[in-house]
Amino acid sequence: MEIPDGYSDIPSGKTASVVTHLQMFQRPPARPERSEAAWTLRKVDSSGVDRYRTLFRRIGEDWLWSSRLEMSDDEVQHVLSDPLYDAYVFEAEGNEEGLIELDFRIKDECELSFFGLTPLMVGRGAGRWMMSRVLECAWSRPIQRLWVHTCSLDHPGALDFYVRSGFVPFRRQVEVTDDPRIIGLLPRTAAPHVPLL
Ligand SMILES: CC(C)(COP(=O)(O)OP(=O)(O)OC[C@H]1O[C@@H](n2cnc3c(N)ncnc32)[C@H](O)[C@@H]1OP(=O)(O)O)[C@@H](O)C(=O)NCCC(=O)NCCS
Repeated sequence: MEIPDGYSDIPSGKTASVVTHLQMFQRPPARPERSEAAWTLRKVDSSGVDRYRTLFRRIGEDWLWSSRLEMSDDEVQHVLSDPLYDAYVFEAEGNEEGLIELDFRIKDECELSFFGLTPLMVGRGAGRWMMSRVLECAWSRPIQRLWVHTCSLDHPGALDFYVRSGFVPFRRQVEVTDDPRIIGLLPRTAAPHVPLL
């Protein structure tokens, strides 16, 4: 369905966002990064779905991330244990503070399907450090394309961050979904900067 020009009403109980898709076709030059001995990546333990969801909520609640919360435990476990799916927890001084998920299930491609830090770690150089690891990991496999999408409900700096990382925007979409606070996936107090309607 074509979206008409001008303003379109969004039904109450729904959120609307503008989604930007970005891609790159070769590994970009490395950017300077802050590096801390206490920063590490650990593979997500696919049997620990509750623990994974707790971290997913801590990262995503402010940005109304809900896709993993809509899935059953079995579905989450199935994705996380796929040999073509690489999910990593970012740890700072032993605390779980970020997530990286790389989806290699489509041949010759990699989707950076989740990338985020908890509020505590945003703006401290850890995002750049994690992106350097993403680029190393993704381009160490025989892929032709690395892509990601971000939406206007994500952190306001995310789109620019991806562009600085070497991704080029190529597609824009409008996404309308149930507000996860209305359907009980997130607390009604989540993301107070996005009014509940
Ligand atoms: C998107 C996101 C990962 C970006 O990470 P960030 O923490 O904001 O970014 P950083 O602070 O690591 O990096 C920003 C810049 O500041 C620099 N920087 C910040 N603190 C620094 C420090 N102490 N020392 C050196 N450099 C520093 C980085 O090197 C980087 O420079 P560059 O982009 O020019 O290369 C983060 O905002 C986030 O997790 N947001 C919430 C979840 C989200 O919206 N994810 C995206 C969904 S698709």
